[in-house]
Amino acid sequence: MSEAKGIHVLAICGSLRTGSYNRAALRTAIELKPPGMAIETADIGSLPLYNEDVRAQGFPPSVETLRRQIAAADALLFATPEYNYSMSGVLKNAIDWASRPPDQPFAGKPVAIMGAGAGMAGSARAQYDLRRCCVFLDMHPINKPEVLIGQCHTKFDAEGRFTDEVGCGLIRDLLVALEGWTRLIGRKA
Ligand SMILES: Cc1cc2nc3c(=O)[nH]c(=O)nc-3n(C[C@H](O)[C@H](O)[C@H](O)COP(=O)(O)O)c2cc1C
Repeated sequence: MSEAKGIHVLAICGSLRTGSYNRAALRTAIELKPPGMAIETADIGSLPLYNEDVRAQGFPPSVETLRRQIAAADALLFATPEYNYSMSGVLKNAIDWASRPPDQPFAGKPVAIMGAGAGMAGSARAQYDLRRCCVFLDMHPINKPEVLIGQCHTKFDAEGRFTDEVGCGLIRDLLVALEGWTRLIGRKA
């Protein structure tokens, strides 16, 4: 039997903050990923605000890059903060840009979602809203495990390392589940 091919994941972080806990959680994911999985991080900070008039003249280069990265990825990994009980504007803006026709690149993608928030719910409401976008865009998010990093300011050390052992285990399990899900439903046998 031939060896299974590696899985290429595109990570999208909903916070642009240098000290972002969601970005730090993504770094942890990169450290804990299963062998054979590669995780690349998208840059959504340079996207303009969505404007249909601009799109009508063609996607800006930063949007083209993001759309190409999504299309090329075997799976997506979102790390979302919670802003006012929903996802951040920058994350929604990136999804809105990338989702426009033709050939919207999200369709059929296996997806894993995690998030960190200051409140007890650990971005649960943001993640739920993100899951609703997944329905419309025909993505296939994993249901479990849920990675909800609550009171995130207490869960990372001064160097931005995730210190919660249970949380680290959940991130590891999420990526293992993403690998299995991608092989089951994605383009990777
Ligand atoms: C505009 C705004 C709205 C926020 N709303 C919520 C919220 O609804 N629930 C919550 O738990 N935290 C909320 N927070 C706190 C964020 O969860 C916290 O700042 C978190 O660290 C942001 O993620 P980051 O560290 O990746 O930037 C809000 C923060 C901002 C800036």
